[in-house]
Amino acid sequence: MTQPDILVFYPVYDEGVMHKIDQRYHLLRLDRAQDKTAFLAEHGSKCQTLIINGHTELNQAHLDSMPNLKLVVCSSAGYELMDTTALRNRNIQLTNTAAALFDDVADMAILMVLASMRNLVRGHDYVASQIWAEKGMFPLQSSLKGKHLGIVGFGKIGQAIAKRASVFGLNIAYHSRSKNPTSEHHYFSDLADISLWADILVVVVPGGHETENLINQDIMEKLGSSGILVNLSRGSVLDETALITALKTEKLGHAALDVYKNEPSPNPEMIALERVTLYPHHASGTLETRARMSELVLENLDAFYAGNPLITPVF
Ligand code: DGY
Repeated sequence: MTQPDILVFYPVYDEGVMHKIDQRYHLLRLDRAQDKTAFLAEHGSKCQTLIINGHTELNQAHLDSMPNLKLVVCSSAGYELMDTTALRNRNIQLTNTAAALFDDVADMAILMVLASMRNLVRGHDYVASQIWAEKGMFPLQSSLKGKHLGIVGFGKIGQAIAKRASVFGLNIAYHSRSKNPTSEHHYFSDLADISLWADILVVVVPGGHETENLINQDIMEKLGSSGILVNLSRGSVLDETALITALKTEKLGHAALDVYKNEPSPNPEMIALERVTLYPHHASGTLETRARMSELVLENLDAFYAGNPLITPVF
């Protein structure tokens, strides 16, 4: 039996799973093609499915070269570089892997909150640079217990953060487009209000046009001079110029960032600031989670070709 053709815009993270996909299907490796436009023109119409990740663009011109496309299988949780309007207009389905990564991202949120609160990175430098003996005791830091944690975005990741945060004795509230009827936590319908209430604001909303620069100067100033901002969503969500000003003028206490507008070379002025804790867009970067994300790609492809419901559909 002939194997279905699948276009590979970007391979899955796990090589073992990629090998399995390669054994089961006929892969057309656009990612390896020198002339991508010519490759798409030659092979695009053969494929009903494609494999991609969230950091790779999928635009109208690509879709025009794939008249038979029925399914986009994304190996990431985020898919903001895809023209989802064009996909919906053509009834092309999309799957992602958010279901696989929320525990790791929630763990990282807690790690960043604690690291910011207790100044872990500066504490490490204080010991490693041997200035401890010269300068004496490291400055006292603030306790986490009793602080107000505001979670912006209350999907699976936001809820997993709330679950973990509750054991630290934090007061927890969230902001999202709608109230979650099953959550016991306080709901703020207004982002400005939760920012004023919170000591720590953790941002886990999707990227894309709707959330561009959502966390702006006003939000940072409302969070305040001892406030901690943690961004685990996308760099596009944060106004980095406003962040630099807020930190320099001490209108915001600290920022912990996993994501940046210009990855992998974020704004040098921002990353050189003292009151930042930085991580290289790797909140879901564990072997276990990346393997599971890869498996979900294969499972969604298998479901599609078997005529079964998709495992993790977005739409
Ligand atoms: C995702 O899956 O969207 C993460 O940000 C890693 O790319």
